[in-house]
Amino acid sequence: MVLRALIGCGFLFFLVSCSSNQTQKDILPTETPQEKGASLFLIHCASCHGENGKLGASGAKDLTSSKLSDKEITNIINNGKNAMPPMNVLLENKENIDLVIQHVKSLRK
Ligand code: HEC
Repeated sequence: MVLRALIGCGFLFFLVSCSSNQTQKDILPTETPQEKGASLFLIHCASCHGENGKLGASGAKDLTSSKLSDKEITNIINNGKNAMPPMNVLLENKENIDLVIQHVKSLRK
């Protein structure tokens, strides 16, 4: 009886893990550049700036009222500023940095 239950569970688990793999594969290639910028922002920036850019944790600036140019934002991402650490290593490459900058600007009012 116990064995049957265990096998049953194993089978269920197998089904669940297969189906979740499937959705991952379905989602990733269709991610738009905007969505990628938004998820990078959520992963690397939202802890201080908040999902909407207004959180202001550890003294982070409100990104919705920021007026910096792409070049100035790149500079802050590459070098950090005061309590903000450099984020370029975490973002990995220039393409990701550009996607995040586009997302940051889309948060502006
Ligand atoms: C550890 C917290 C933290 C994280 C993570 C963080 N920031 Fe910041 N950010 C700050 C702080 C603090 C400031 C204010 C710096 C200052 O001027 O003193 C700031 C300022 C900024 C500014 C300047 C805004 C302005 O108008 O002056 C931009 C742009 C910015 N962050 C973008 C980002 C992006 C994009 C990410 C993710 C790649 C990120 N930040 C991740 C804390 C953080």
